Amino acid sequence: MDHIYLDYNATTPIDPQVAEAMLPYIHEQYGNPSSTHVPGVAAKQAVDNARRQLAEMLGAKEDEVIFTSGGTESNNHAIKGVFGAYREKGNHIITSSVEHPAVLEVCRYLEEQGGRVTYLSVDEFGMVDAQQVADAITPETILVSIMHANNEVGTIEPLEEIGKITREWGVLLHADCAQSVGKIPVNVDDLGVDLLSIAGHKVYAPKGIGALYIRAGVRLEKLMHGASHEMGWRAGTENVIEMVGLGKACELVKNNLTEYHRRMQTMRDRLEAGIGERFEHIRINGHPTKRLPNTLSASFRGMKANVILDELQGVYASAGAACHSDHVEVSSVLEAMQVPMEYAMGTLRFSVGRYTTEQEIDRALEELARVIQKQAVQKTAL
Ligand SMILES: Cc1ncc(COP(=O)(O)O)c(C=O)c1O
Repeated sequence: MDHIYLDYNATTPIDPQVAEAMLPYIHEQYGNPSSTHVPGVAAKQAVDNARRQLAEMLGAKEDEVIFTSGGTESNNHAIKGVFGAYREKGNHIITSSVEHPAVLEVCRYLEEQGGRVTYLSVDEFGMVDAQQVADAITPETILVSIMHANNEVGTIEPLEEIGKITREWGVLLHADCAQSVGKIPVNVDDLGVDLLSIAGHKVYAPKGIGALYIRAGVRLEKLMHGASHEMGWRAGTENVIEMVGLGKACELVKNNLTEYHRRMQTMRDRLEAGIGERFEHIRINGHPTKRLPNTLSASFRGMKANVILDELQGVYASAGAACHSDHVEVSSVLEAMQVPMEYAMGTLRFSVGRYTTEQEIDRALEELARVIQKQAVQKTAL
């Protein structure tokens, strides 16, 4: 164990079982799924199987899921696709101020194209108020796009409640589930969503693959024109190897989610308790209970997150703020949650994985204690 990786919300390694499933498609099975000869048919079967695994995990039908290049493309396709296809109904989109740039930047782009976007505020925990969604709906509203779980603080948004509202008003609901899949249950009917985005590399599949759920009957303008791949939704010869990988990753989630959840929560809670015991003047961000089981956003008052990260030896996490010589750049999520600046600037995000061990957590705590104490001494010496 030479380093301790606690940044699984940024990306995950490929699960060994996923890698194993992909191997034959790297070395032997290189057919094009559109070809009618034997290698082509084998590749087509592999893609069909992966689609079934994906659909089963989500509680969706096989013809309601398409593969994409990742979370960013899925979000783009969902939001731009609805905007293009429902122009006759309206131009209004509702989203939240804590979405990933892969949603926020799409919305900003659509504002330049004549769209109107409402960015809902969140409470101190990063939670959207479902009533505010209802209040923001107008006859021109075509889409509500709210993430299932936040990548920085882990807060789980009230999608079920929002889903009831969007159904009642006949408005489409899109959920960015890049962070929730593999950590908490994600079922399209339970959530009441019409569109749902998945990012493969957050769920132990490779980078560069993702998926979009499109409820039967929903219309979308295409992003990628060409041949009729992905049931006509997305043109381009299939990324068979990675589709197989994502399919396997989904099967693992479907069969082991309870166990993954339990392991991650045990390790995250150990880290959280250790931080609580060792350090004063800290603040845990995100909802106390409605939070991803693996995510811990901790703010160290008066500290500089990027300095801590630089000093940590062999422990990898991510920063919620970047301190420059003349200013501090705080993440838009912490800003939207109105985390006080003296805390926000010292915010670290730790995110554990399904295979994180107690020893790793304990060693990370020791190393963190060393760095924080050093910083505190340096500060008092100034
Ligand atoms: C919530 C959320 N949405 C979307 C994305 C983008 O996914 P991808 O990296 O697959 O494009 C990420 C990745 O950081 C994310 O955390």
